[in-house]
Formats: sequence, structure tokens, C-alpha cells
Amino acid sequence: MASTLQAKYRKDYQSPSHTITDINLTFDLHESQTRVVAISQVKQLQQTNQLILDGENMELVSVQVNQQPWSHYQVVDTTLELNDLPAEFELQIETLINPAENTALEGLYLSDGAFCTQCEAEGFRRITYYLDRPDVLARYTTTIIAPQNYPYLLSNGNKVEEGVTEDGKSWVRWEDPHPKPSYLFALVAGDFDVLRDSYQTVSGRNVALEIFVDKGNLDRAHHAMRSLINAMKWDEQRFGLEYDLDIYMVVAVDFFNMGAMENKGLNVFNSKFVLANDQTATDNDYLGIEAVIGHEYFHNWTGNRVTCRDWFQLSLKEGLTVFRDQEFSSDLGSRAVNRIHNVRIIRGPQFAEDASPMSHPIRPEKVIEMNNFYTLTVYEKGSEVIRMIHTLLGESNFQKGMKLYFERHDGTAATCEDFVSAMEDASGVDLKQFRLWYSQSGTPELRVSSVYHEADKTFTLSVRQHTASTADQKEKQALHIPLGIEIYDQQGNIIELQCNGKAVSDVLDITETEQSFVFESVTSQPIVSLLRDFSAPVKLVYDYRDEELAFLMVHAKNEFARWDAGQMLIGKYIRSNIERVQQEQSVELPESVIDAFRGVLLDPSLEHAFIAEMLALPNHNEVSGWFDSVDVDAIESVLHSIKISLGQELQDEFSALYHSLKQDEYTIEHPAIGQRSLRNTCLSYLALTEQGESLVQAQYQNANNMTDTMAAMSAANQAELTCRETLMDDYSAKWKHDGLVMDKWFALQGTNPAKDTLTVIQNAMNHEAFTLKNPNRIRSLIGSFLNQNPARFHDKSGAGYRFAGEILQKLNATNPQVASRLVDPLLKYKRYDETRQKLMKQELEALLNMDDLAKDLYEKVTKALEA
Ligand code: TRP
Ligand code: ZN
Repeated sequence: MASTLQAKYRKDYQSPSHTITDINLTFDLHESQTRVVAISQVKQLQQTNQLILDGENMELVSVQVNQQPWSHYQVVDTTLELNDLPAEFELQIETLINPAENTALEGLYLSDGAFCTQCEAEGFRRITYYLDRPDVLARYTTTIIAPQNYPYLLSNGNKVEEGVTEDGKSWVRWEDPHPKPSYLFALVAGDFDVLRDSYQTVSGRNVALEIFVDKGNLDRAHHAMRSLINAMKWDEQRFGLEYDLDIYMVVAVDFFNMGAMENKGLNVFNSKFVLANDQTATDNDYLGIEAVIGHEYFHNWTGNRVTCRDWFQLSLKEGLTVFRDQEFSSDLGSRAVNRIHNVRIIRGPQFAEDASPMSHPIRPEKVIEMNNFYTLTVYEKGSEVIRMIHTLLGESNFQKGMKLYFERHDGTAATCEDFVSAMEDASGVDLKQFRLWYSQSGTPELRVSSVYHEADKTFTLSVRQHTASTADQKEKQALHIPLGIEIYDQQGNIIELQCNGKAVSDVLDITETEQSFVFESVTSQPIVSLLRDFSAPVKLVYDYRDEELAFLMVHAKNEFARWDAGQMLIGKYIRSNIERVQQEQSVELPESVIDAFRGVLLDPSLEHAFIAEMLALPNHNEVSGWFDSVDVDAIESVLHSIKISLGQELQDEFSALYHSLKQDEYTIEHPAIGQRSLRNTCLSYLALTEQGESLVQAQYQNANNMTDTMAAMSAANQAELTCRETLMDDYSAKWKHDGLVMDKWFALQGTNPAKDTLTVIQNAMNHEAFTLKNPNRIRSLIGSFLNQNPARFHDKSGAGYRFAGEILQKLNATNPQVASRLVDPLLKYKRYDETRQKLMKQELEALLNMDDLAKDLYEKVTKALEA
């Protein structure tokens, strides 16, 4: 174990000693004994006759060099050392692997009887000994041999041959013409229903599209297909990027550690991000499918054609591809609503990650287990960094930068530095200081103040930036922060920004610790809108008066800014009420604040979806992030009381809207989604009033789609209505045979605010649809309890922590990757009171004392306990 726990550092990158130009793989599939023969063409890149390959969890059968048995090797730990090698040779390695026992879901495993693979980041080394690193790019030929009861045998690229073996098995051969790293390899074998369509690319090539789903689920694949076609079209139109193979396949599997995987020409998806019809999926599920189908498709260029030199560069493909999928969703749907959702993730869980023992820059410096770095920081903050580059350059220069990036790096493994250089060279914009965003971790804070000088008609903004030390990095430097602003006169007209007699950009370049900006010709005291569209992933501190925020909620010239003003306004009262509750005073919300939200509800010019966002309070986790020391009970009680107050004070408006927004037919057009979203937001407030029981029950009974069904159930859940149990039982009776649909039910059990939730969860673990082997089930029931039910998880008795500890010990043995994601809330123990700290720490220490702790958990737990 000891040597596998060694950390790797970004600074120690070394180019490979050899490369592999071609690999010919043959799989003789068998549930517990799959035979893999890998024939690689190997070339020396450095003067050495030793080659060290990676390999784990398999049996080595034989090694040949240039078709001769080779004995100059030894297996050392998780490597195969080959010695006395010529400069160029053919290497043949035969291994045996056991898919049936692969519960970690990395490498080749079984999902409901179908074979499938997951190779990112380092899963290929569980299939054969190989140079399992992203900077070794080879052409793959893959032959799959399987019994006849696996009618579909799939791999990357184009199918070139097929037949039947002497002993009656079928075989298929695939060839992928595009050289790729091993993490993009995929194999699938099983029986499926297939949805087929086709797409004609801009240059007129025809691409076959195939979506493989479990038998009987064909009617749930149409939205994924539509989304795929939309993604292909969008990437041509917005980025000028065309698909490059004759076939694109997507396979939906039930057992999957993450969302989906961009394997070349053969994406493997968590079925959650493929399967949907109006009876089984909510609007959010539909939008999630569109985003993830888009994300994996966009990886074909940003990830596959240009891949990462090493895993420290992960954000090169992930940050950029998240940026692209966000833009895709925004171009197709509501830009404001998408932005709001993305910003909520940054301000909530991403800022929390920065403040945790796992804090790291978007390009990490030190890694023990790579799977631990598929994080909100690398993905979501990484996307914000790309978005800032986009803001600084503008769309046209950004696209020039993309073009140059592909000209320089297509077909190779690149670095984040390569990307920034291409952006810089193509645009002429200096990104020297900006690069610090790649190496500096933590959440910068911007403290802004303003002065208006009546006499000389100037408006001065003073900005200070400060990034607090993080667990991984003590010293911080000043970053280049684009700060979008706008100023308004009292009537809500935009005042043009002028400095030194010239009009200036509304994006200020903050580059120093302290800076002032003086705007001239401002004829009256203005109101300033700051950090527009969340122009940088920072915490903004500005002492807004309530009237200014209420003004911005109405007059800001950008929906995001209006929403943000509303969040700041309610945020002020969440903070002040937390103090009140801590001093045993009651929760108070002034009439003026209620009126500001009433105004939003009654504004006919606003999009429904947007009004729904305006009415959604920051959640418990986001509010926790505002404090160094978290008072769980005070936060819970304030958020609940404020919600009740708004529900009661605005009952008439909510009620009128609720009834007027009813739709008879279900469509997934964006306006219809928005309408349901607002109506169901109204319901969540009305559930807290005396109308609650009857409205919720009626909606559950009359719903003709899953969005409305789930909205009724979660309103019943959150408001702890008496009808909750009846609805839950009815749902379970209807869907108990479908794990994916039951996940929504499990998530409601996990987030049940009732005092006895833990017992309810333990009972739910005995539900016929539940299994600890399926990551979706674990995340729905247990993940939601740990992450979305803070009041119960952090129960002072410590029962929630002990439950988490037990589950983590089990999962450590079966699926360390999933265990490692689940442990995150425990790592943050330092933010809680002493009693809770002690109890949480005990669970971490118990984990560390296990003698078979996987390196995934080891890395996180040691970091947390060292901190
Ligand atoms: N590259 C995948 C994506 O972002 C992420 C992914 C899927 C992954 N499965 C994984 C990462 C397993 C690590 C392990 O779309
Ligand atoms: Zn990705």
C-alpha cells in the first residue's frame, strides 16, 4: 500500500520514455474471466531499454516482445517493468480480468448484465498493462468476442468486420482512426433497444446516431437524441466545429460513478442523463440531459481532438467544456436562469470547497488519487475562468483564440498554459497576471465602497481585493479580476461611464490590492450595479441600502443583476435574523422587503422562470458559507421562518398565480417549463399556509407529468404535511420496480426534515429498489441526507455522523470513488461547534484506522485531520 499512497506533483511532470503508436486489443468476454490480448507497437522516445507500464487488479498471463516470449520483466506493485528492450518493438500482453467482481466500476465491469468500461482517469490499467497516461496517443483496433446473448458489441470508431468463431461466439472488430489516450477507450457488450437517427454535418457528411438503452426504455430516449442533434448543430454554428466520425453512439447504463463519459465515438452515460419521458422525468431532468449530452459531445473537440498532457491539466478540457455546455444551454433556453443556476453552484458548494481541507487551484499542484480531483473547482470554477477570458476578450477574439488553439494543438495533448497562450496570441490581450487564476486557490473577496461628489460631479469606486489563506496555500497574490459594473440615475437610466473625458468599458480591470476609479460627468447620486452577471468568481462586499437593492431589483438592465439584488436584500435579513435568533429574539422581515418581492410577483414583464428564481431563497449550505462558524439550528430556523412569512404575507399573490398558471398539456418548451417552475414555486410557499394540505394533495392527484408530481411531493416533504406518507406510499407502489424513478423518492426520504429521518432512511435502505451497489441509489438516499439535510445530518446526538461513518466504511471496500465523494461534508468539521467537531472527527479517525483504507478516502481524510 505504502508506495501507492505517494503524492504526485505537477512540477514533476516528465514526458514518457516510450510511445505507443498502435494498439490492437482482443477481448474474449466472460463474466468472471475475460481474456485480454493487447498488441502494441512501442517506440522509444528516450535512451532507455526499460519500459514501465501501469496495471492493477488483474492476472498477467504472458508477455511477448516481437512475437517471442519475453522473460525480462517483473511485476512490482502496480507496475510491470520490462527490461532489455530494443528501441522499437511489438509488445504482446495477455491478461485475465474479472468484470463480475468489479464493484468499483472502473475498468471493465458489468452493469445489469451488460459489459461496459470506464477508463477515465486511470481505469485502463485495470484492463491491461499499459502506458496509462493521457500524453500517449495510439490508434486503437478492438476485437470483441462474446457469446451470442450479447447482440451488440461496441467500441470506438468504425465497425470494420464481424463474424462468428468456430465455437459459435460472435465477434466484431472496430477501428478508431483518431489516435487517442487510453482514458478515451470504451467497450460495451449487451442487449439493448436502439434509437437510431442521423445528422448531416455542415460539410454534408452523414453521421449515424445511435442511442442504446435497456430493453423496454426506447420511449425514454427521444429527448437525448434531440439534444444530441441540437448539440451537433450548435457546435457548428457557434464554434465552427464539426463531428469527425461516421457514427456517434451513446449507451445508457444504470451503474455509473459519474454523469457520463466522452469516449471517442462511444459515450457511456449514467442512465439518469439519457432516460426521460413526461411520466418519469422532471423538467430539471430534461434540462440536465440536454446539458450532459451537450457536454460529452463538445468534448469531442475540447478533450478528445485536443486532450490533456497530464491530469493536473484536467481543467483544460473540463473547465472549457463546462463553459461550452453552459453556453449551449443558455443559447437554447433562458440565459438568465442558466446563469443563476451556475452562480448558485459557485457561491454554494464551490466556495465551500475553497474553504475546506480539499481546497485546490483549478490546476491542482499535488494529487494522490486523481478521482478526487473531478471537483467543483476544476469543473465549475474552471468554467468561470474560461468565462472571464471570454469577458476580457469578447466573443470574436475568443473564437479567434479557439481557432488558434486547434491549429496549434489538434491531435495532441496540451496544457492549460497552451490554451491561455493561444487566447493571448490570437487577441493581443495581455493575460500575464490573469494566469494566476490557474495556480492560486481560494475565494477572492472584493470590498467595494463608493463616494459621490456633488460639487465636481464625480462618482468614485474604491475596490480592495483579498484572498484568505487556504488549506493548501498560505500566501496569496492580487489577481486580475474583471469587475462588470453599471451605474443608474434615480429614474433607472444608464449613466455612461467616463474617465478622463473618454467613455470607458463597463468591465473594470481590477489588478491591484487596492484601486480607485473616478467616473466623471455624473450629474446626480447614482446607484451602482456591481459584479454584473457574476463577472468573476469572487465574494462581493458592498454596503447596499435596502432601497438601493429594491431599486436594482426593478431597474437593473440585466435579469441576473435584478436577481442578485433580490438575493442580497433577502441575504441581509437572513444574516440579521440569524443574530436575532442567536439572541433568542424572533425572526422579523420588514414590510418593505416583502413589498419588493410582491413587486416581482406582480410584474407582468418578467419571464415566469425568472420570477421563480427571484423567489427562491439561498439554501442552507449557501448561507453556511457566509460564516466562519456555522450555527446549523439558527440557519435552519431563520430560513424556515422567512419562508413562512413570505408564504403568509404573499398568500393572495401566490394563490392567484398558482391558479392562473395551470397548464392542461405537458410540453417541454422553455416557456412551459418556466410556467411550471413558477407555479410550483408558488406551491412550495402555499404548502406552508392553511391551504397546504388540500392544494398539494390535489396537485398530486391531478398531475399529468412528473414535474408536477414531484413538486407536490417535495412541497409535502418540506412542509411536513400529513399527506406526505400517503403520497410517498402511492408513488412507491407505482414505481418500485424502476430504480431511476425511485431515486426521486429516495432523495425525498434523505431530505425529510422530520426528527426521525434517520430511521426512515434506514428503512428505505431495505426497500426493494435500494442497493448499496448502485451509485445513483447511494447518492439519492444517503448523499442527499449528508448534503441536503444539514439540520438532521448535523443532529447534536451525532447519530447522522455515525451513520455516515458506517456507510463510508462499507463503501470504502466496494466503491472507493463513490465513498470519497460522500465523505466531503465530514471533512468540514472545523466549521461547527466543538461538540459536533469532536463527533465528526471521531468518524474520520475511525476511517483512518481501517487497515484497508483506499487512497481516495486516505487522501481526503488525512488532509482534513492534518488541517
Ligand atoms: N470526463 C467525464 C466528464 O466530465 C467525467 C467522468 C465520467 C469521470 N466518469 C468518470 C471522471 C469516472 C472520473 C472517473 O464528462
Ligand atoms: Zn467533462
